[in-house]
Amino acid sequence: MSALYEEIQEIRARYPESLSAVMPALQLAQERSGGWLPEEAFREVADALDLTPAYCLSIASFYDMFRLEPVGEHMIEVCTNISCGLNGAQQVVEAFESELGMRAGETTGAFSLRTVECLGGCGWATIVAVNNRHRLNVQAGDVAGIVAELRGTGRGEG
Ligand code: FES
Repeated sequence: MSALYEEIQEIRARYPESLSAVMPALQLAQERSGGWLPEEAFREVADALDLTPAYCLSIASFYDMFRLEPVGEHMIEVCTNISCGLNGAQQVVEAFESELGMRAGETTGAFSLRTVECLGGCGWATIVAVNNRHRLNVQAGDVAGIVAELRGTGRGEG
């Protein structure tokens, strides 16, 4: 059995039904697969929970937190929901697109850029999650600095 299988069994043991363990199991599989869920990950999760890969895929497809395609080393997620939208989120997205030379929804080199629904920090709009850490009150003028910082810390070229 794989290490992932064993870890998912530990997760499974915490829940009365294996169905309840699907979300945390998928999250773990995503972490172990470089930030996204390849076909193999669905087979492993399904096998570990006695479910079908198609069922696991249907769950992953529904939730924004799961990624079905490879992602860059740096994941930049800009909230464009109402509060952030009223506080310049679109300008922030455009600044990232311009700085990175890519459109939201794409992965280029070391970077993935996407827009997401509310990240739960509406009072500090615009919220940008950079590698899962939330940056608060981000404005378009902050974007060049964020990208420079990531380019300086990354393994890739960007
Ligand atoms: S609307 Fe952006 S964090 Fe809630």
